[in-house]
Amino acid sequence: MNYHNPVLLQEAIAFLAVQPGKRYIDCTLGGGGHTAEIIRRGGLVLGLDQDPEALSACPELEGLTKVQSNFIHLSEVAKKYNWYPVSGILFDLGVSSHQINSSQRGFSFQTDGPLDMRMDKSLPNTAADLVNQLPVSQLAILFKDFGEIPVAKMLAEKIISTRPLSTTMDLAKITKKWSQQAFQALRMAVNDELNALKSGLPQAYELLEPSGRLVVISFHSLEDRVVKQSFKSLADQKLVTILTPKPVIGTKNAKLRALSKI
Ligand SMILES: C[S@@+](CC[C@H](N)C(=O)[O-])C[C@H]1O[C@@H](n2cnc3c(N)ncnc32)[C@H](O)[C@@H]1O
Repeated sequence: MNYHNPVLLQEAIAFLAVQPGKRYIDCTLGGGGHTAEIIRRGGLVLGLDQDPEALSACPELEGLTKVQSNFIHLSEVAKKYNWYPVSGILFDLGVSSHQINSSQRGFSFQTDGPLDMRMDKSLPNTAADLVNQLPVSQLAILFKDFGEIPVAKMLAEKIISTRPLSTTMDLAKITKKWSQQAFQALRMAVNDELNALKSGLPQAYELLEPSGRLVVISFHSLEDRVVKQSFKSLADQKLVTILTPKPVIGTKNAKLRALSKI
């Protein structure tokens, strides 16, 4: 089975305007699907992923340097590897199919496993810690804000009366038809995904050379909102040109936005 089928591959590569011999950063390397195409076109890639399993599964490619890091540390990593300014930076957010399909990682509501969901095992809290320790009000806010679940409070109350929970199935039995949204909400909280994105995007802008491209693929309306606002703020300051007045839509609700640094 493929590690991960890259989403919006041709579109991402076209917006990155890959040129031979130029430097790129893939902030979410995963199985290296997007990166392999950049390299096939002659680009050189610094590839970050916070998940050590992703890094070891990603093939070794000539022209690719792999680094285990959260993109919240993007500037620091780029400086450490003397990899700036760059011609293009890609974010393909969320989790890979490999991570979802690995039951022991706890991302899937369809297979049983420990309620973990950390992309990087050094993160402080697992999903089990959150469902077992958060007060009902905070759990309800988490499900409402990150999962857009209309019955968030009811789910939070059910969890409180059933906990401790330790496996994905313990949770899925409670969340039932809201499982996909509830699991996604917990994953976003465990990995602090929106804050990483809010911090990573301005760092990416700084690392681009003039005319350099930034391409972001998101899968959640809250993520897309962060990307849209961050792009708009840079465009309002006349620092960038937005190349996608409307996002390009792909499979799995993917939305791609791209800009060019002025
Ligand atoms: C959707 S997958 C990327 C797939 C990749 N583009 C491919 O074609 O195989 C997202 C990857 O980004 C990683 N990731 C998510 N958030 C991250 C972050 N804040 N810092 C570093 N890596 C992150 C995940 O561990 C996962 O491997």
